[in-house]
Amino acid sequence: MSHDEFPTDQPAVVTCGLPYANGDLHVGHLRTYVDGDALSRALRRIGQQTAFVSGSDMHGTPVAVNAAEEGVAPREFALDFHETYAETFPQFNIEFDNYGHTDDETNVELTQEFVRSWVENDHVHEKEIEVAWDTEEDQPLPDRYVEGTCPYCGEQARGDECDEGCQRHLEPGEIEDPVSTLTGNPAEYRTREHKFLRLADFQEYLQGFLDRLEGTDNAKNQPREWIEGELQDLCITRDMDWGVDYPEDVDGGDELVLYVWVDAPIEYVASTKQYAERVGDDEYDWEQVWKVDGEERHGTAWDDEWSDENGEIIHVIGRDIIQHHAVFWPAMLRGAGYNEPRSILATGFVGIDGNALSTSRNRAVWADEYLDAGFHPDLFRYYIATGAQIDTDVDFSWDHFQERVNGELVGNVGNFIYRSLLFAERNYDGTPDATVSDDVRERIEDAIENFEAAVREYDIRELAEIAIKLSNYGNEYIQRNEPWNLVDDDPEEAEQVIRDCVQLTKAVAVLMQPVLPGKAERLWGQLGEQGSVADVTLDSALEAPPAEFDDPAELFEQVEDDHIEALNEELQERVEEASEASAEASNGGGEAAEDEGDDDAETADLQPLVEDRISFEDFEGVDMRVGEIRSAEPVEGADKLLRLEVDIGHEVRQVVAGLRQLHDAEDLPGTRVILLANMEKAELFGIESNGMVLAAGEEADLLTTHEDAPLGTRIK
Ligand code: 2FM
Ligand code: ZN
Repeated sequence: MSHDEFPTDQPAVVTCGLPYANGDLHVGHLRTYVDGDALSRALRRIGQQTAFVSGSDMHGTPVAVNAAEEGVAPREFALDFHETYAETFPQFNIEFDNYGHTDDETNVELTQEFVRSWVENDHVHEKEIEVAWDTEEDQPLPDRYVEGTCPYCGEQARGDECDEGCQRHLEPGEIEDPVSTLTGNPAEYRTREHKFLRLADFQEYLQGFLDRLEGTDNAKNQPREWIEGELQDLCITRDMDWGVDYPEDVDGGDELVLYVWVDAPIEYVASTKQYAERVGDDEYDWEQVWKVDGEERHGTAWDDEWSDENGEIIHVIGRDIIQHHAVFWPAMLRGAGYNEPRSILATGFVGIDGNALSTSRNRAVWADEYLDAGFHPDLFRYYIATGAQIDTDVDFSWDHFQERVNGELVGNVGNFIYRSLLFAERNYDGTPDATVSDDVRERIEDAIENFEAAVREYDIRELAEIAIKLSNYGNEYIQRNEPWNLVDDDPEEAEQVIRDCVQLTKAVAVLMQPVLPGKAERLWGQLGEQGSVADVTLDSALEAPPAEFDDPAELFEQVEDDHIEALNEELQERVEEASEASAEASNGGGEAAEDEGDDDAETADLQPLVEDRISFEDFEGVDMRVGEIRSAEPVEGADKLLRLEVDIGHEVRQVVAGLRQLHDAEDLPGTRVILLANMEKAELFGIESNGMVLAAGEEADLLTTHEDAPLGTRIK
């Protein structure tokens, strides 16, 4: 890896986190792939040689558990989903150069080679550990076969990840109060021998790695805390049948498979290799990207002198798997003599209508559902890429989708392009014979510069907005100059204005292509351009469009109210059905159970107390203040959200809170509340939320004070 500015002289690879091949894709999955796809297209656009790869994650308990529920063998089950994913991604214009899977030969061989290298370099050792065991089934309970309490934050967690709490990886034996997901019985701990990667060997190296790492702040900063104390060994084997076998030729471990998080990231390498094998090493040198020349490695402490010869590795992942990519993976690469990632971009989650996406509650918008609704994939890509900064959560709602498509794509971009091209075609059969004005040329040059800067900063949102801002400028320009009034009185000036507008249109096509590739291609055709807009460089935004083109057609279609209403109803019904089904299931399914007293129901809903105590210092880090709501108004397009202004003495904070369905906005001003003032800022529906109002329970019972503590008083 170089630390040169993009484009560098070395090949790059952009990878996306591998989806587990165990269920249908939804908008939450798609975010990472849209961002990764847009980034790789944009890198190519500025002249960086780039491969874009990923694959399906076929192994581990996430697949084995779901396959068993369906009564299908895991390989068959996972392959089925793999094929569906491989077909679905292109329908969202997510075009991988290679989309492989972790169970294919290339990955299995490469994974076993990695393990051999770690063993040869003395990074692997064997030890006895306690693993969860189901006594009724008489079998071990790896990872998702066991649930319990996270020892770090006290939340309910899966065997290997605290998915609902602190997001930490959990080692076998760490989970407290383990319960078997097979039988629901409390699990026992039994002693087994397993293989471990000694992460402590890489402690010093990882410090340096994190200093060098580029990407989102969450990926660069969160891992610092995780590598502070001595790094725990990583258990790399599991008692399972389904997975990549521990290499036979290495001592012991012959009955074990490798932990899914060993072979999964290695698929990034395998997938790149497969791509290179397809196009030829002369075209794309996968080893230059991934392998470090033996001479460049100096013992276990990484030398800060980087070889400029190595390629650039960019990982785009969900923010729940930062630890795997910023701690385990660089150690795995390093231990086997491989290059390190240059950057990690950890994307925020996607919420639905102001709530967390939940597949179990069916509160999700599914990939197929979106496609079946007949919307162009680029509309979704645009919504998701511009909905928030890449590392911040984005809320998806059909109402907001409609609002943004109609306002920004139809009303702004589509309108400008259509007006310009129609006028040009009707009056001049295409591009008028004039020179682009200095102002417009400079405006396009600025947009190109901003585009390059956004790619270098991995700022996908800015990247997506550049073409929109340029088209906005175009709309103002055409409106200000009114070419329709100039045609007769000042034909030369009219030609000049339209010449500028056609050039702006061409620049919009070039600049919007990474995020709206399908629409950009269509616009390219409307401009009478030859070839594909994907193949041109940024400079072509300033080159003259063809002298002739045909009558244009509208680029974007209006999203209609009745369509959105139907989609909203469908989603609402689905969520209601799922919550009724889960209520029935938790009531034992019988009607009699519904008669249980309220007290029982409330007790049953109580979450367990968190056992881990926090220190007084930790508590002092939580800044809660007495505040008073000054104003409350609904957030447009979000059923559940209110925008509040909360006075906390020092200042008035804008807060977005999910109170709309539980409180009348007009009743809230004047209400005293408690505000968590040092809550991380978030963005919901494009509105910054700067703090969190505290409330209890499903009814959002607002916390308050009962005497006259002045506004801004700190809660102690
Ligand atoms: O968390 C997940 O969905 C994993 N399947 C991601 C794997 S990414 C990569 F490292 F393998
Ligand atoms: Zn936790």
